[in-house]
Amino acid sequence: MSTTLVALIIILFSVAYIFVKRQFSYWSRRGFFQADASFPFGSIKGANFSITLTEKLDEIYKQFKGKASVVGFYNFLGASILPIDPEIIKHIFVKDFASFHDRGFFYNKRDDPLTNNILSIKGQEWKDRRAKFTPVFTSAKMKQMYEIIEEISDKFALKLGESLKDSNIQDMRIWARRFTNDNIGSTVFGIDAKCLEDINSDLMVFGQKSLNMTLAGAFKFAFGSTFPEIARFLRFKILDKDSHEFFLNTFLQTLEYRRNNKQIVRHDFVSMLLELSDQLPPIDLAAEATIMYLAGFETSATLISFALYELALNSEMQDRLRDEILNGINENDGKITYEMLYGFEYLDMVINETLRKLPSIPHIFRKCTKDFVVPNTNLVIPKGTQVIINNYSLQHDPEYFPNPEKFDPERFNSENKKKINPYTNMPFALGNRNCLGERFGLMQAKIGVVKMIKNFIFTPCNKTTIPMKFVPNQFFLTPVGGIQLCIKKIH
Ligand code: HEM
Repeated sequence: MSTTLVALIIILFSVAYIFVKRQFSYWSRRGFFQADASFPFGSIKGANFSITLTEKLDEIYKQFKGKASVVGFYNFLGASILPIDPEIIKHIFVKDFASFHDRGFFYNKRDDPLTNNILSIKGQEWKDRRAKFTPVFTSAKMKQMYEIIEEISDKFALKLGESLKDSNIQDMRIWARRFTNDNIGSTVFGIDAKCLEDINSDLMVFGQKSLNMTLAGAFKFAFGSTFPEIARFLRFKILDKDSHEFFLNTFLQTLEYRRNNKQIVRHDFVSMLLELSDQLPPIDLAAEATIMYLAGFETSATLISFALYELALNSEMQDRLRDEILNGINENDGKITYEMLYGFEYLDMVINETLRKLPSIPHIFRKCTKDFVVPNTNLVIPKGTQVIINNYSLQHDPEYFPNPEKFDPERFNSENKKKINPYTNMPFALGNRNCLGERFGLMQAKIGVVKMIKNFIFTPCNKTTIPMKFVPNQFFLTPVGGIQLCIKKIH
């Protein structure tokens, strides 16, 4: 090796070393507290490999709680902010929404048009789209859709009951996923997806494929979110080709069919999307249908299966919930109406406590779009900074929820829930960019849990993972080994 080459390599390494060292002092140079960092992972070493990003951020949260209202950390080389104080979270979600209205997710309208959806788009474009879609999710619209979901929930109980002939131990995470896939397949894509009949049905396969975070997929998404222009130039896509075609074709075929068969009156998302077809081109409607599906099936399935897990471990709570449901049904000629679903007080407490302890989405992303002065300090979060609110940390903070690992629905009884600061418990996020599908998510999760508890008794078995552990590299809180429970049919 020539001396010149050796000198060049030394210079290159020295420059890289100085750059990395300087980057890892980005926050301290600006007066912020910052988490330790080392090359190449920054402050999140181990995240996505041995623990989840949520658990890693929780370590940082605990380290700085009481010392700072926000803390700087490094997501690989990217300088990010982790808010700690609920008051700052209120500013981010609500009071200073103008500085935090974007999520900073990658999308590519030209090469990957289904990613051009409400979850990812930004600025005025997002605002206009959100205004068009908010009326789609009103209580009145949910009530109209209830009948469809209720019918599928009966099939959920029927098919689970049949499967007990093969084994009384079932993975309730998979079963809940089959239920929510059929719900959203029916209401968003207008198809009978038959996921409860066939675990390998197309929708199950493509849905899972799209959500499973591979290392390459995670890299593409992270790179695209940090350098969107370069990623668009390189024609990055997030959805794989087969899933893209499946979602697009399925939706467009249904849209066309409904357009040509106006006599079909069905109170579902398809008919509402059809009403918007004079305002948005079909490809954008397909993008919204796809994100409603992807944002909706796994989150709700997670909630159903986590609730059943906690109820299996707490049999007296399960009995109390069953009593509430059976009493309600007896008083209403054996039926479960939409209104009844919302009248079940203990059910509501169980669902809220499940979302607190085991939030389907444990961290929430924001991008700072305008320099932001942290209240009561002279610290400035610069425009362009990624902010991650680790809602899991606040929901597990003993200051706000004493004995946080205990599953205790009483935290949400009518008296106690009034005392909860909303910025310490935010499973659907808060403010103008919160979850758009909260009502639909809660409706399908509640009716799913009701039908399960009415028809079956759930207990833990030797396959149940206690305490629950999470798969490190998934965006949603994903239990290792699924939710394996022992199930007995009630005759
Ligand atoms: C238990 C079920 C659900 C949970 C826990 C949940 C949670 C969340 C969370 C935490 C966010 C991020 C909010 C933010 O960044 O501020 C979100 C966004 C969103 N969710 Fe949900 N979700 C659920 C069900 C659903 C369903 C069923 C749908 C649609 C049918 C849906 C559609 C959306 C959409 C479209 C967004 C993006 C909204 C926007 O950017 O304007 N979600 N959800």
